[in-house]
Amino acid sequence: MRKLTYFIACTIDGFIGDPKGDATSTYRYVAGEYLDYLKTEYPETIAAPGRPVVGLDPDAENQHFDTVIQGLNSYRIGLDVGVTSPYSHLRELVATRSLTESPDPNVELIADDLVGRVRELKAEDGPLGIWLCGGSTIAGELIDEIDELIIKTYPQVYGSGMPMFGADFEPRDFELGAVRTFDNGVLVRTYIRKR
Ligand SMILES: NC(=O)c1ccc[n+]([C@@H]2O[C@H](COP(=O)([O-])OP(=O)(O)OC[C@H]3O[C@@H](n4cnc5c(N)ncnc54)[C@H](OP(=O)(O)O)[C@@H]3O)[C@@H](O)[C@H]2O)c1
Repeated sequence: MRKLTYFIACTIDGFIGDPKGDATSTYRYVAGEYLDYLKTEYPETIAAPGRPVVGLDPDAENQHFDTVIQGLNSYRIGLDVGVTSPYSHLRELVATRSLTESPDPNVELIADDLVGRVRELKAEDGPLGIWLCGGSTIAGELIDEIDELIIKTYPQVYGSGMPMFGADFEPRDFELGAVRTFDNGVLVRTYIRKR
């Protein structure tokens, strides 16, 4: 079995973006010691077009994930500027019912039975896991499939915004794993799902 990991950036008050999902106010924290950590530990989470910008080798080896899943709204951010395969170094899956033809041979569209497709991916063998990129809607739909949370918290408070999960209320328990702190106030916590 492979793990489904929701690897996500949020504010102190748990928002992954402003009410429309925009999180550009947090980008300035992606620098220095923390950026070095991402480049070393999670290079596959840095999109292909961003790699030259942050000085990451375009062929950097994937460390934790070989697959990424996004909802259409998240995928559309790249698509709108002509990026059809933002994570071309990973197998890419995009959940959508409105987009009927994949814009890129590396991108598989999921229209029906999202949970079933994710369970199939989890049942595959392999040393690397599956990255649930977001956003809020798809994370809410997959909340009970998530095995691990890696939450990158930036030292900002929004007051309101897009929640980490668009899901109904239900307490779900996780066990705290690794905690990393960085000199610019960023905190990265890993939580493992208690089943
Ligand atoms: N802070 C972070 O680390 C982070 C990471 C990722 C994203 N984000 C932000 O999250 C925002 C997007 O989040 P969002 O909640 O608006 O949207 P989303 O989850 O990215 O995408 C929602 C769309 O996915 C499709 N979808 C959802 N469930 C589906 C299902 N069961 N089957 C088939 N398709 C399904 C639907 O597309 P159709 O309408 O085509 O059916 C739906 O409109 C973006 O603004 C992005 O910036 C932040």
